[in-house]
Amino acid sequence: MCSEWSAAMISPVDDFAGAPLLRTEFALEPGHGTVRAAELAVSSLGIFEAYLNGRAVGPDVLSPGWSSYEWRLRYRTYDVKDLLAPSTVLGISLGNGWSRGRLGWNGNRAFYGDRLAVIAQLEVTFTDGHRQLVRTDQRWRAGPSATLANDLYGGQVIDARRAGDGWMHPGAALAGWGGVESLAFDTGRLTPYIGPPVVRHEAVAPVGIWRSPSGRTLVDFGQNLVGWLRFTVQGAAGTEIIIRHAEVLEHGELGVRPLRSAQATDRFVLSGEMDHFEPTKTFHGFRYAEVTGWPAELAASDLEAVVVHSDLRRTGYFECSDPMLNQLHANVSWGMRGNFLDVPTDCPQRDERLGWTGDIAVFAPSAVFLYDVDGFLRDWLRDLAAEQQAQDGLVPAVIPDVLKYEPSPSSLAGLGPIAIWSDAAVWVPWALWQAYGDRAVLADQYTSMTAHARRVESLLSPAGLWDTGFQLGDWLDPQAPPGDPFRAKADSHVVATACAYRTATIVANCAQELARPEDARYFRVLAERVRAAFNQHYVDRNGIIASDCVTVYALAITFGLLDEQLRARAADRLSRLVRENGYRISTGFAGTPYVTDALTQTGHLDDAYRLLLERQCPSWLYPVTMGATTIWERWDSMLPDATINPGEMTSFNHYALGAVADWMHRTVGGIAPLTPGYAAVLIAPQPGGGLTWARSRLETRHGLVDVHWHETGHDLTVETVIPAGVTGVLRLPGEPDRELACGPQIITVPVHSRTKPGEPA
Ligand code: BGC
Repeated sequence: MCSEWSAAMISPVDDFAGAPLLRTEFALEPGHGTVRAAELAVSSLGIFEAYLNGRAVGPDVLSPGWSSYEWRLRYRTYDVKDLLAPSTVLGISLGNGWSRGRLGWNGNRAFYGDRLAVIAQLEVTFTDGHRQLVRTDQRWRAGPSATLANDLYGGQVIDARRAGDGWMHPGAALAGWGGVESLAFDTGRLTPYIGPPVVRHEAVAPVGIWRSPSGRTLVDFGQNLVGWLRFTVQGAAGTEIIIRHAEVLEHGELGVRPLRSAQATDRFVLSGEMDHFEPTKTFHGFRYAEVTGWPAELAASDLEAVVVHSDLRRTGYFECSDPMLNQLHANVSWGMRGNFLDVPTDCPQRDERLGWTGDIAVFAPSAVFLYDVDGFLRDWLRDLAAEQQAQDGLVPAVIPDVLKYEPSPSSLAGLGPIAIWSDAAVWVPWALWQAYGDRAVLADQYTSMTAHARRVESLLSPAGLWDTGFQLGDWLDPQAPPGDPFRAKADSHVVATACAYRTATIVANCAQELARPEDARYFRVLAERVRAAFNQHYVDRNGIIASDCVTVYALAITFGLLDEQLRARAADRLSRLVRENGYRISTGFAGTPYVTDALTQTGHLDDAYRLLLERQCPSWLYPVTMGATTIWERWDSMLPDATINPGEMTSFNHYALGAVADWMHRTVGGIAPLTPGYAAVLIAPQPGGGLTWARSRLETRHGLVDVHWHETGHDLTVETVIPAGVTGVLRLPGEPDRELACGPQIITVPVHSRTKPGEPA
């Protein structure tokens, strides 16, 4: 913003059902020539939409999104030069949003305060240099809107009989309007967005409309998505249309049990005229909608689903000869879109939608490839650092941390740090650095990263094991009982100690990168201590790791905890366990992101492919066989008999287990950074699994990297495009490394027979 905040944070005296409208009317000051520039800055407690003479000031919705409001309340700025008139109304509509709506599964609300309020400052600069300021103050007026209720989980109620845009225009009669009061507010909390705002993306048309066995009208949008429905309709005044949303069907009806207490229900009351409805003060995760009260026979052209999420630029693509894998990949990117709605959330539909740290800790390497998430995640990392600082270095399980306000012990508040979850403080900046090569993220997060590493260090046993405290471990191990996702096969202390090693190693690397040699040495020593303890206490001389399951081998191998000989033995054991389980998945949140890499790095590529291509439950492709269009929370969120998993937590849109996309990009597609930010790129596709071709593309900061390989008979042909100034190294199975020239290039090599370690070539 050009000038300092001098506006007041104003709140309507009457709450107007949680959706007040606020306005001021002003004239451009005469005698200063024409307007050279006009910038509006707005933020709010609750969500806002701002208008000048009835026109939206920007494309964003649900602003100012969700941040750790206690320290960071973001504002948006808009260039509004073209929206000004000699006489103008600045109108703002408020809703409960995250600040005052429900959050979490205990039914609680208003974690950040019980008042809705807005702060806005419009600075108009005239050609003679004169500046006119229009800002929120006690002279503003507040009045009722057509929205009678609004909640992110619950849905929105709009009565079109009360609608009208007169209030947005000069000279409106303001019957029923009242005053505002200014709230005590520290403008030091106001901060600009680092990431993009939330916007509407595309609209999706219904692919089917029919009557359910119980006679309800159901609509299928063909894709599990996040957003809301939009439509124009006319019917008798007072008619109520009710829309319920769900991700799946069960027994032919909406499957709403997974939503738990989230009502996800919008209600629209018709005025008798042509009404346009769009509930922008809520959002739902859904593929299906149940429509009641539509005044005529519902047709596909009557309504559309609006896809809503943060305004991210797509950067990475993957395709191959197996349509099932392509669907899996599409499911990963749709899952990401639905859960990148301002905060990286676990899920977008039930009474949760929280920024669970562990989920993004494992998914970040996939996310950074699919979309440019640099600003998005750096914004969130600021919140993480703020919450952590307020909790003495402890990284909470969710960011923004609302669980700290929850009285319930099930909230995990204060329990921690938790391996993987709290490690997000280190793993997420590292993923951003690898993908975008901007050292600033390491510098910005350095205090947070080291504080987390030191906090973990303080919990280590004298030997160097992380074997105390609460852990989520290999959360959602498929063999754990549905009601007890903690009961994983993997010893949670083995998992935690492995994570402590990875974290200390990354922090040491960051310190080195930031030219802090003493810190680098310190964390390197810490890492070595943990590694030695891990080997001494958890690994026997045959490479068998305590609790002897896939997850512990996957972590030990990929995190680099084992010396060469033990690593080879551990890898054989891993491969055997994977095979003995019939290539079905046996890992949860901790092991799943790493198992294919562990197999690949140790010469068991075929096992990695078989695991990836398995279709029996549990497997990555099982949900695809069941028609999934997003990644599920559980391997069997939908059971083979088409009933919903009986567990309490059964989301159909959870990106965590989609972390395998990262392996697909690097190993199947063949694109990986050789140096952070892809200034040097490794093109190393490893064909297998019967695939005959794959193509991956990545819009890096240096330009487009494009890799397309296909096997024909005995030849493997790789077509690459490397941007100017980027060093490319092509590494193909059984071939010496080749340096790649910039621009397009085609290389054909013979297909070498793929042997397993120990087998004769
Ligand atoms: C969330 C997970 C999260 C977990 C940790 C769940 O309710 O949906 O994704 O990481 O809790 O306890």
